[in-house]
Amino acid sequence: MLQRQIGDSSLTVSALGFGAGHIGGPDLDERAAHALLDRVLDLGITFIDTARGYGASEERIGKWLPRHRGSVVLSTKVGYDVPGEEDWTAGAVRGGVEQALRVLKTDVIDVVFLHSCTLSVLEGGEAVEALLACREAGKIRIAGYSGENDELAWAAGAGAFDVLQTSVNLFDQASLRRTLPAASEHGLGVVAKRPLANAPWRWRERPDGVYGETYWDRLQKMNLRPLADDWVGTALGFSAFTPAVSTAIVGTSRPSNLTAAAAAIARGPLSAAERQRWEQAFNPRAGEWAGEI
Ligand SMILES: NC(=O)c1ccc[n+]([C@@H]2O[C@H](COP(=O)([O-])OP(=O)(O)OC[C@H]3O[C@@H](n4cnc5c(N)ncnc54)[C@H](OP(=O)(O)O)[C@@H]3O)[C@@H](O)[C@H]2O)c1
Repeated sequence: MLQRQIGDSSLTVSALGFGAGHIGGPDLDERAAHALLDRVLDLGITFIDTARGYGASEERIGKWLPRHRGSVVLSTKVGYDVPGEEDWTAGAVRGGVEQALRVLKTDVIDVVFLHSCTLSVLEGGEAVEALLACREAGKIRIAGYSGENDELAWAAGAGAFDVLQTSVNLFDQASLRRTLPAASEHGLGVVAKRPLANAPWRWRERPDGVYGETYWDRLQKMNLRPLADDWVGTALGFSAFTPAVSTAIVGTSRPSNLTAAAAAIARGPLSAAERQRWEQAFNPRAGEWAGEI
């Protein structure tokens, strides 16, 4: 598995990461979640991304992690839902980190993101400073912002963060143009979320309540198909190989789909012509198609 540095930080991660959103929900029991995490390591994936808001995800990772801590670069996201603390205050950020350390059963978290707070929260400074204080105290190794559009652009130029997390996929190219070049210039790493665009090609009719509806709409409008009908290879050949991207975090509840993603990464980047075809289909709508959180 291809490994890359996260920006100018000391952390190195696999080009394919695992987005652990799906292992926190009711569709998987704990045993199946742990089997999926075992598959992550078997495939050479070394980056796992979770969040305080992903149901039982942090807890399930915490029960599995102690035996595997040295093999994993772990990230989570904070800023909300801490008892007794107002969301996005210093107390909520600090409390989120403290709770994550306890639940994940580790004494340091490699990457912690502010989880999609607003521009006014970012500009207010309190949440950002609290996260940097956690870095200073050695509770986290690097500090990040996860979000889109104006907020992401602000975070790229703030001089505070080490890494950004943003949607990068065939149907979401907003940050490619607006933010990734600046991120790269400032030495920030980039975690590409939703790299399969939630696999909208699976649905013949517009889905409802699956989180990928907007991408399904964009797929219809762009009206392209991948070469050889290789959707997963094309999606990851685009996302994981976008300049500035350190790792692309695929979310799945199925070991077989994770294995397919690893095989797709091994096939490498899209050819320049194929990449251009997808960029050119997106370009005419770039002004109206914002980054999707
Ligand atoms: N910071 C944020 O606000 C934020 C927002 C969204 C996502 N994220 C992060 O990004 C990760 C990934 O995002 P995501 O899960 O929304 O999007 P994604 O990785 O683009 O797509 C996941 C969807 O694609 C399906 N899938 C996975 N592999 C497939 C394959 N080989 N063939 C066909 N379908 C496949 C999965 O279903 P199956 O379960 O059936 O495989 C799942 O429904 C999340 O887990 C999370 O860590 C962060």
